[in-house]
Amino acid sequence: MSGLNLQEVDKLEVTVLVDNYTDVFVLQSTDMVKRPMTPPPNFPLAEHGLSCLLKVYKGAEEHVVLMDAGVSSTCFFNNARVFNVDLSKVEAVVLSHGHPDHFGALVEFLSKAAKGIPVVLHPDAFLRRGLNNPITGRRVEFPRLDEAALKETGAVLHKIKDASTLFSDLILISGEVRRVTDFEKGFPWAEAKIDDKWVVDPFHDDQGVAVKVKGKGLVVIGACSHAGIINTVKHYQAAAQTSKVHAVLGGFHLTGPIFEPIIGPTIEEMRKISPDFVMPMHCTGWQAINQFAKEMPEQFVLTTVGTTYVFQ
Ligand SMILES: [Fe+2]
Repeated sequence: MSGLNLQEVDKLEVTVLVDNYTDVFVLQSTDMVKRPMTPPPNFPLAEHGLSCLLKVYKGAEEHVVLMDAGVSSTCFFNNARVFNVDLSKVEAVVLSHGHPDHFGALVEFLSKAAKGIPVVLHPDAFLRRGLNNPITGRRVEFPRLDEAALKETGAVLHKIKDASTLFSDLILISGEVRRVTDFEKGFPWAEAKIDDKWVVDPFHDDQGVAVKVKGKGLVVIGACSHAGIINTVKHYQAAAQTSKVHAVLGGFHLTGPIFEPIIGPTIEEMRKISPDFVMPMHCTGWQAINQFAKEMPEQFVLTTVGTTYVFQ
């Protein structure tokens, strides 16, 4: 990790290893959107989780980063196999936040990875987490990220609160995302145990990654975007000192009764940001994905597990 001076890359490839949606007949590929052929018995799996593999290229340099690791080892390793992803090439891991739909296969992945692999995460990723659902009246505590188990794999944890970069400033990790919009108010059902008290989760650990692609602009990947996808994009525009956004990918967390009311303002703000492409995934939800498709038809791309986006 080093200071913040995000460098341009020649090319970025993002392969969606784990996502909520699969459709093996979406096969239309373009120069930017590559769809895998996965005939039986090599079907991919989908689950409520996210994992993306990022490859950046600059001159003769090439680096591979894993962002998040889905819910289950079953899905994560099955998909890596059917998409021919060589996980041994991963040089670093970024964890977006401490929810189990993002760290599910992490310990097993790290136990098979090279010793000493860096894992960048916010210290709050280790908090106890839960959900207090007023509709069902049920409160559940989630599986917690196990720091001892992570360390036992031989990985080196980098607990960082602020923005940081990887590979001599080729990949920017947001750190705590500044909240600037008036409609992205967090998730009142989500809880965290802080100072021995269960409180509404402030999600200080929620972060994404961004890469600046030569001649195109920023590609921003929000994982669950608990900080708000618009806040996340604006944070990156400020951190990278550029307003040009080429693509916004990731889980925008717009599903369910709490979030559906902010689908409209989110799309309105996204149109002002004016990315060339928008790829809502994971926790964005069916309603919001459809709204993006309808209201930003030129920019919208449907993500299925296994899709590889090539930005160059
Ligand atoms: Fe998530």
